Amino acid sequence: MELKRRAAEYAVEFIAPGMVVGLGHGSTAIFAVRRIAELLQQGRLWDILGVPCSRQVEAEARALGIPLTSLEEHPVVDITIDGADEVDPALNVIKGGGGALLREKIVAQNSRREIIVVDESKLSPALGTKWAVPVEVLPFGWRTQASFLESLGAEVKVRQGEDGSVFKTDQGNLILDCHFGPIADPYALADRLNGRAGIVEHGLFLGLVTDVVVAFAQGGVQHMVRR
Ligand code: A5P
Repeated sequence: MELKRRAAEYAVEFIAPGMVVGLGHGSTAIFAVRRIAELLQQGRLWDILGVPCSRQVEAEARALGIPLTSLEEHPVVDITIDGADEVDPALNVIKGGGGALLREKIVAQNSRREIIVVDESKLSPALGTKWAVPVEVLPFGWRTQASFLESLGAEVKVRQGEDGSVFKTDQGNLILDCHFGPIADPYALADRLNGRAGIVEHGLFLGLVTDVVVAFAQGGVQHMVRR
């Protein structure tokens, strides 16, 4: 948790007064939300508006007193700070471990800077090596999506909630966690997923991330920028 906090707080330093800020979902991004609230309270940051990436973050940010807006009111987000499950050397990432991948991707694609904050355990030589690709599907006909994903080589698991019931996203959809193993061509896989009716979105965030901030157990933080 300490590493997650360090990475998140490092990224908050890039926020300036007047910015619209995307508030990511997950156990790392929440440290950024808390830090933003702290800086606002201390008067060291002001005049920012948050765009939450999930209902849960919306509730937390509201409770912490962060002024919020929406993409309808502010379609361009200056900086988003969000977590990830796996990060490859090209700064492509897998997201969606927390189930908020659809809103996270909508916010990311409207962000000037998408800063991913992680601890070093998330670094990977190839996406899929350490983590399944979460695929959000409509409940209607979901089993046919599972079969389609298996035909692409995935081992598919239906995401369960903490209480053992089927997990539902903020949109009321299901998540199929797809274990592919190391993915040789993530862009080709994304194309297949994007072209399938009933697949709402997937956790491959390709070419969307501008910065990755990684905290290391040995100490120190590395800031990587996509060229
Ligand atoms: C939420 O849907 C996710 O994309 C998270 O940002 C991602 O799973 C990383 O989560 P942690 O920061 O909790 O590891």
